[in-house]
Amino acid sequence: MTVDLRSDTVTRPTPTMYEAIAKAELGDDVLGHDPTVLRLERMAAERLGKEEGLFFPSGTMANQAAIAAQTRPGDSILADEDAHILFYEGAGPSVFSAVQARSYPSQNGRPDPIEIESRILTSSHHTPGTTLLCLENSHNRAGGAVTPLKILLQIREVAERRGLKVHLDGARLFNAATALREDPADLASIADTVMVSLSKGLCSPVGSLLCGSSETIEAARFWRKRMGGGMRQSGILAACGIVSLSEMTERLDEDHGRTKALGDSLKNVPGLTPHEPETNILMVDTQLPADTWVSKMTQRDVLVYAFGAHRLRLVLHRDVDDVGLGHAIAAFKDLGRELEG
Ligand SMILES: Cc1ncc(COP(=O)(O)O)c(C=O)c1O
Repeated sequence: MTVDLRSDTVTRPTPTMYEAIAKAELGDDVLGHDPTVLRLERMAAERLGKEEGLFFPSGTMANQAAIAAQTRPGDSILADEDAHILFYEGAGPSVFSAVQARSYPSQNGRPDPIEIESRILTSSHHTPGTTLLCLENSHNRAGGAVTPLKILLQIREVAERRGLKVHLDGARLFNAATALREDPADLASIADTVMVSLSKGLCSPVGSLLCGSSETIEAARFWRKRMGGGMRQSGILAACGIVSLSEMTERLDEDHGRTKALGDSLKNVPGLTPHEPETNILMVDTQLPADTWVSKMTQRDVLVYAFGAHRLRLVLHRDVDDVGLGHAIAAFKDLGRELEG
């Protein structure tokens, strides 16, 4: 048995998804004729309280299309210093949108409205006006940390007062909503556009959705095509997405429970200091180099990810059940004893 804790992106399609693929009604989505894609887009928009949705091959492309659709070259945008948009998307804001990306600090992934406001630039002959604020909930690099609705509403007030649009990178928005016991539409209500991933904890093989006003989604559709993201019979993929939205969001609590159980068990393993998880991501600091843990855990059939020289990232998802969790905990304990000796 191999237990893969590297990411929730490793999840495989569920049996219901394979059935949905076989039955999917298809058309050419670039021509706007794939009924399954249209159904998924409507479903997502309704679920997130927005006018329209647009299906993308990846979260990265959806984030970048959202930025491009809501800025003009020479604007500046703000994002958390550790945001996926700034860290992992290949300088997309500079390349696709020709905007200057500036960062704001956050406390363990939770943004501070005052810090954000202090970094907003007014357009002048010196400064590129800030027109878009990007948020991330839950926050990947901050170990799945969630931002409560109260703070989000304060940030929205700043954005409105200062004339900024807001884009929410909600790759794991359903995890955040589950942990906060909030409706995902309420968390998304503070944003003009929201991206949600289907291919992480929701188990679809591919795909993300961008939701927002009809006007912004039309602009994003243009950018999706320009970026090469127009897909033809993508109802094959959207069929899985429909299963993700209708069946997979309710079970995320299970992943969060196992993440907490894993963190609690690792507190007693010599050489490891687990952080307190908030959703399905557990960060663990290691005394020995993280790479040593990665290679020795791999020998024990547990795949983990080195997140820094002395930090591991472990992610729980549908493909790790209680048996898998037990196997991982036993392997960590066994290795902890071996490395200590
Ligand atoms: C917070 C966040 N945003 C965006 C993405 C990008 O999604 P994709 O891998 O589908 O491009 C990820 C992927 O891990 C993510 O964690």
